Amino acid sequence: MSRPDPHSHADTSQPRQRHLSWRAELDFAGRTISATALLRFDRGGGPVDLDTRGLEIEEVRTVEGGPLRHELGEPEPILGERLRVELPEGVDGCLIRYRTSPGASALQWLEPEQTAGGRLPFLYSQCQAIHARSVVPLQDTPRLRLTYDAELTIPATLRGLMAAGALGRQESGGRAVERYRMAEPIPPYLFAFAVGDLVSAELGPRSRVWAEPSTVERAEAEFAGVDGMLTSAEALLGPYPWGRFDLLVLPPSFPYGGMENPRLTFLTPTLITGDRSLVNVVAHELSHSWTGNLVTNASAEDFWLNEGFTVFVERRILEVLEGSEMVALHAAVGRQALDDAVANFRDRPELTRLRTRLQGVDPDEAFSQVPYEKGYLFLRALEDAAGRPAFDRFLRRYMDAFRFQSITTEELLALVRSALPGVLEAVDAPRWIDGEGVPPGAPVARSVRLERVQSLGAGLPAADAARWSPWEWQVYLNQLPRPSTPELIGALEERFRLTEAANPEVLVAWLTVAVRSGHQAAIRRTETLLGEVGRMKYLKPLYGALISGPGTRSIAEACARRYGERYHAIARAGVEALLRRGG
Ligand code: BES
Ligand code: ZN
Repeated sequence: MSRPDPHSHADTSQPRQRHLSWRAELDFAGRTISATALLRFDRGGGPVDLDTRGLEIEEVRTVEGGPLRHELGEPEPILGERLRVELPEGVDGCLIRYRTSPGASALQWLEPEQTAGGRLPFLYSQCQAIHARSVVPLQDTPRLRLTYDAELTIPATLRGLMAAGALGRQESGGRAVERYRMAEPIPPYLFAFAVGDLVSAELGPRSRVWAEPSTVERAEAEFAGVDGMLTSAEALLGPYPWGRFDLLVLPPSFPYGGMENPRLTFLTPTLITGDRSLVNVVAHELSHSWTGNLVTNASAEDFWLNEGFTVFVERRILEVLEGSEMVALHAAVGRQALDDAVANFRDRPELTRLRTRLQGVDPDEAFSQVPYEKGYLFLRALEDAAGRPAFDRFLRRYMDAFRFQSITTEELLALVRSALPGVLEAVDAPRWIDGEGVPPGAPVARSVRLERVQSLGAGLPAADAARWSPWEWQVYLNQLPRPSTPELIGALEERFRLTEAANPEVLVAWLTVAVRSGHQAAIRRTETLLGEVGRMKYLKPLYGALISGPGTRSIAEACARRYGERYHAIARAGVEALLRRGG
């Protein structure tokens, strides 16, 4: 037996999945998907253990129709239920007929009121890290990649999208059947779809943006620069490997800023600010096309390989498009978030390592800015030690060596050792990889604009700060003591009207300090904001501020009760965990 991924029942000594043919029919009223999954493996003979969560298994048979012996295990915390299918010798496929549960952890079924248009329902999936198993029975580990084709049956009033190539749509009798194909092998966490009132606008030769009709024009303007990002990413990493790079703007309850589903990046509508100030998230998801989707972490224990490299590439793209002053501001905000994450994990410092041990730990619970920002700093340290030209050559080599593979930290380190001799020693790599916290001597962002903000400390900015970028505001607000004095908070509010900030990053940075300082207007705005967005990056600090702010804990509890239903299951679980832990 060989079960290398602590978050999957997959046994890599058994037959391995190769291809999925998925036929699914959506039932919005019942919040279920009735589906068949035809899985092809690299061979037959012997048992194969699949991951499922909450699936109602109706039938397991051979492709030709004969029954197959199978057994559905008891629910296990984190993992779900193991489905063991016995493949006879020479039988390398199985067909599973099943229904998803209304509580499927990957899915959010939205009532019309929860969409921008308010007229039609919406459904979307979010499978990373281990939620694909709540939608499809498969070997839900990024070690085992698969191609797929799919057929979705949906109400004809709606449009379906998958993170794959579209093959066409046929309508009859109020229903539409849409077909798709993903010809490149992907890890299961990149399986993704969305169904709703969706239209698109062209952004460039390889990109369009999909959104609800009332949002699509603003989305088009916000993301118009996407082709420039593609060009600069290709200059660094080689030709874009997935054909198209389309964007999908989801309803506000989408729990992440972005999700790098191949060919169709999912984005939160909170990126649409009118000034393109948050498009680094698009650069980030685009970068995953190489670092993550092409070269993939072998399990959540090596998550930093996905996110650290991606933040590194995101900021290289940003450097080309907006210059190094802006990169320094982004990196400084990242460093503040990293220091916060390390402080929040003071009782579980082992989660501040780059390489983690997650046996018995839910990846959603281990999630933090550590793999992102500590990973970024480690790579910056390597770049400094090797020199940029050599490190750029290394990045290309990394892509070439592991294209369409899933790798561990050890495999990365072996490549660095041979391609950049001496560099791991120069940066004391073990301290980064297996040590806790941020190593002393980590690279520090410096720039003129950054130093101007940092040197203000907790002083009141002059009136010209009205012209600061949202990134300068974040650096400033994050460096204020919590609580801050009513005088400072009052003066900031009066001078800059921060409770009315249109940029959500600035608004959330402000509210977290102002709520902890007992500022009434901020508390009221936080209460409304928690009902408007479901992005965890905002929910966690806002709930955290209410929980630990003076006399506002009961407001946090009331908001969680009132709005919990509107959040995606992953976000709801995050908020509940926060309330249990007490901030
Ligand atoms: N892949 C992540 C989102 C994710 C991580 C989903 C883990 C589920 C489990 C995505 O690429 C991401 O990192 N999004 C960030 C964007 C940011 C770092 C620019 C986000 O959502 O905030
Ligand atoms: Zn990412």
